[in-house]
Amino acid sequence: MTWEESTRQKMLHLKLPTDPRWVGIAEMQIEEILVDHAYCEQKAASSCISLILRFNDLDELVDTLTPIVAEEWGHFERVLEQLRKRGMKFGFPRKDDYVIKLNEFVKKGGSRIQHLTEHLLMNALIEARSCERFKLLSKNIADQELQKFYYELMISEAGHFVTFIELAKKYQDPEKVNERWKEWLDYEAKVLKNMVVRGDRMH
Ligand SMILES: [Fe+2]
Ligand SMILES: [Fe+2]
Repeated sequence: MTWEESTRQKMLHLKLPTDPRWVGIAEMQIEEILVDHAYCEQKAASSCISLILRFNDLDELVDTLTPIVAEEWGHFERVLEQLRKRGMKFGFPRKDDYVIKLNEFVKKGGSRIQHLTEHLLMNALIEARSCERFKLLSKNIADQELQKFYYELMISEAGHFVTFIELAKKYQDPEKVNERWKEWLDYEAKVLKNMVVRGDRMH
């Protein structure tokens, strides 16, 4: 089975495909996309650091997430390099409505492990959606360097997606993880459906 086939099976749990208009308008605002993307990578690294600090007693979690922080920061560096070589500015972070909405779905209260599960599933979902969008960019934009760049990132983020789900199932009953994952998928589809399609955001 090729990588694409195997991830399509694992990955496209996503309930709603990205609006087909997105990639065309994103390509027209690629500077905005690159800036927003750089911050996505920063947030990915920061969220793993937060989990490491908060669950410092969970050895496997700490040991698994530590190299992911380095990878996400490496992605940040690579996006910055793409901006610089195009003479584009990094600039301020943009409001991330997608992540704000996902955060609202995180269950408050509950046990520490329930909390960990929520955050791992939210991270997994962001990875899955990012992977889908990187794939669209890699297949549809004219810039060949960016095509290749987004293809490589798609593979990396697919790996993170799998890792987050596996970690959730290590610390929480896998059946409970599966049930909650379905709820997250349904919720994410609703969030996306209600969001205006805009070409200056990665999500
Ligand atoms: Fe990344
Ligand atoms: Fe990632």
